[in-house]
Amino acid sequence: MTASPPTSRVMVLTGASSGIGRAIAHELARQGYRLVLAARRADELNRLARELDPSGSRVLAVPTDVTDDASRRALVEAARKHFGRVDVLVNNAGVTVERGWWWDDSDPLRVLRVNLESPIELTRLVLPEMRARGSGHIVNIGSVAGRVPFNGLYSASKFGLRGFSQALRRELLGTGIHVTLVSPGFVRSEMTRAARLPMPGPEVVAQAVGNVLERPRREVIVPRAYHLLVWLDAAFPGFGDRLVQPLLRRRYAHELRGARGEA
Ligand SMILES: NC(=O)c1ccc[n+]([C@@H]2O[C@H](COP(=O)([O-])OP(=O)(O)OC[C@H]3O[C@@H](n4cnc5c(N)ncnc54)[C@H](OP(=O)(O)O)[C@@H]3O)[C@@H](O)[C@H]2O)c1
Repeated sequence: MTASPPTSRVMVLTGASSGIGRAIAHELARQGYRLVLAARRADELNRLARELDPSGSRVLAVPTDVTDDASRRALVEAARKHFGRVDVLVNNAGVTVERGWWWDDSDPLRVLRVNLESPIELTRLVLPEMRARGSGHIVNIGSVAGRVPFNGLYSASKFGLRGFSQALRRELLGTGIHVTLVSPGFVRSEMTRAARLPMPGPEVVAQAVGNVLERPRREVIVPRAYHLLVWLDAAFPGFGDRLVQPLLRRRYAHELRGARGEA
């Protein structure tokens, strides 16, 4: 990232209360970062902060709803008040439409608010400080679903986040501020608890985040095997249809039975 050692860097991490965010918090605390952990579940966050740093001097838990403007501002203010600066922002908080077709959901646009609008707004809050200092790193957690269309609203949010990340990276070239998109395939977390697929743990994503902070990259896809799926879908979208269809059939099995009038 920057020439400064990890131990002097301050990271704001959203979605730290479970899954990939929790694993990133463990990995980056191990590397010596000072952490500001954000998510809505205060108990989970406080427990994690105590686990990572019983002294309370290097890890701060700030219960936050990233879709709420006042809450986002309070998060960044808390980071500055406690640690004096923000060197790294990791936009990891994310949701999907968990069950059923997205068009039957009463509020599918929340997926865009959490996965796309919040990273943009948080970036807007930390950029002035980073630009004034001439250093910083924004890491956005995208998805292979931002390359291979899979679920309407989720893919819309992750395609959007990918476009935002890559354009912002270009806008900031030469300023000392890096922007990286980390795009995971399926990994074990609360989000994927219903998926019956072979999946690695969230640590693979945490390690990728640790690595890009040392060696900034445009985009990293993890696990690497998903490069093949991404390439196949871009080169032969019809073949991609056939690859993705079994996953969709499994996900929507219940709805498909209902549509055919089966019990
Ligand atoms: N697991 C996968 O296979 C996979 C694959 C590709 C990409 N991803 C991406 O990885 C990221 C992390 O997901 P995960 O798999 O670790 O799922 P997860 O275990 O469900 O974690 C989601 C995190 O987002 C937080 N969050 C949700 N809504 C929020 C809000 N309004 N305000 C603040 N925090 C909020 C949750 O905390 P609270 O509920 O406490 O608020 C939780 O900490 C997401 O961006 C996801 O899209 C996951």
